[in-house]
Amino acid sequence: MKKLNILTISLAVITFAVGWYLGSSNKSITITSSKGGESYSGGYVTDSQANTTSSGAVKIRATEGTTHVINPGDSIQAAVELAQPGDSIQVMPGIYSETVYIDKDDIHLLGVIVEGERATLDGLKKLNDAILFSGNNIVIENFKIIDYKGNGIMSQAGNNFEIRNNLIIDTGIYGIFPQLGKNGLIEHNVVSGIADAAIYVGMSDNIHVAYNEVFDSVAGIEIENSRHAIVEHNLTHHNTGGILAFITPGLPIKDTYDVIIRNNFILDNNTPNFGAPGSTVAGIPAGTGILIMAADDVVVEGNIISNHKTAGILITDHGNAANLTLDPESDPNADRVMILDNVMLNNGYDTIDEIKAFALSELHTGDIDIFQIGPSEGSCIINRHRYKTVGIDDFKDCDFTNTDDIDTYLLAGGAEPRVIDPSERGEIAYLGVCTGCHAYAGRLIGPSVMEIQALYANRPEALVNYINAPTSMRADYPEMPAQNYLDAETQLAVANYILQAEN
Ligand code: HEC
Repeated sequence: MKKLNILTISLAVITFAVGWYLGSSNKSITITSSKGGESYSGGYVTDSQANTTSSGAVKIRATEGTTHVINPGDSIQAAVELAQPGDSIQVMPGIYSETVYIDKDDIHLLGVIVEGERATLDGLKKLNDAILFSGNNIVIENFKIIDYKGNGIMSQAGNNFEIRNNLIIDTGIYGIFPQLGKNGLIEHNVVSGIADAAIYVGMSDNIHVAYNEVFDSVAGIEIENSRHAIVEHNLTHHNTGGILAFITPGLPIKDTYDVIIRNNFILDNNTPNFGAPGSTVAGIPAGTGILIMAADDVVVEGNIISNHKTAGILITDHGNAANLTLDPESDPNADRVMILDNVMLNNGYDTIDEIKAFALSELHTGDIDIFQIGPSEGSCIINRHRYKTVGIDDFKDCDFTNTDDIDTYLLAGGAEPRVIDPSERGEIAYLGVCTGCHAYAGRLIGPSVMEIQALYANRPEALVNYINAPTSMRADYPEMPAQNYLDAETQLAVANYILQAEN
């Protein structure tokens, strides 16, 4: 704390360049944000005005608050506690071993990169989470995050966020995990070595996932119980499954729809599944390029999908999927799947027995680019003759060929910030935190809510004690990360809530 430098930055209105002094040296570094400044207009002159609106999800600030500069040895969390909405926290290169929890609005947490050296959050294989936030209008940029056990960067019910330019390596269960958020941008991150999903969009709306590289994880990019998402221009390779859009049954949000998966490179996702046994993703067959399970209105366009031993695109209902406890409130079928032009090479060359058997029933032998099983209404495809397919005979020809009219589902002007009334605290913490790992009826990462209710009936205080300092209870489950960053009131509220939650 005592070394915390607080610099007030005065910002010229017309430029977005911010100058500051580097520690004890007198070399000045200028940090320029690529968001909100002028755009290069190219060599071809047009009449249109330079576009000065942000293409991001968080509104450009009209005025900057205080900039807090953190050096190695300082606590980032201490700066978060001091910061007011509107402030930026700049973290200098060096190693920081802590969990940062931001429960206020409009904070920009920015790593500073100097000659390739990053501000590095190191969980030492001991700490659970690197960065958690529950505020609205949060930006997290330029960090390196290694060796945590739970989450790299998780948002918990905050709206309007940007998570960009982070390197996230071996951080446990989820690399980047926005949960219950609206209007979020996840771009230019490199995420690897994650035992569940490298990028997991959970119960969220209006999300844009672009220009990320994800590899060596079980699921590359996952759009789960979410609506209005675009996943484009990503490179996803050497995972168990490349890009997934699906419904996990037993979560409070019951559907996934309106997802565009376009212009991605989806390559060689054949890594043996190392997800926690019994977890949803443990059911993904190694060698799956794109998986669409029970999600509706999913467009697959312009991707290069190659070298997947199970299938290039695998479309299934819940009934045919492994590891699931069905939810009567979720429609189990993948309806209105739309497959436009994609480049598919060398897929389904060594598929699983279930798929082989079904293919044989259609007298299909050999490779499989696209495999579909279960009822699927209103689905369509163009140029089906290009691919080796099984199960799509009732797909019609689409009456459109591209999604060029849709740039983004991000909301111009941003979403309304989520304001949490004290009476909703338990519910929002349950939705924003616990349901990331606990489904109502079936096993997710942790045991079902029904099982928790049976164990802790009428004992909310005992449940609070457990979530504060979880101990290993089940040999075949991972450890639960402590939820001790939540304040005591929220902990009790969430304990009471989970004990009476219904579906
Ligand atoms: C990152 C995943 C994750 C999150 C988030 C999570 N849990 Fe868990 N939880 C687990 C796992 C895994 C277990 C099983 C641990 C074991 O058996 O050793 C578990 C077990 C439990 C148990 C059972 C303890 C027992 O005595 O058997 C309770 C109660 C519980 N969690 C409550 C919560 C609550 C409340 C929240 C939200 C504030 C929450 N969990 C958030 C993963 C998670």
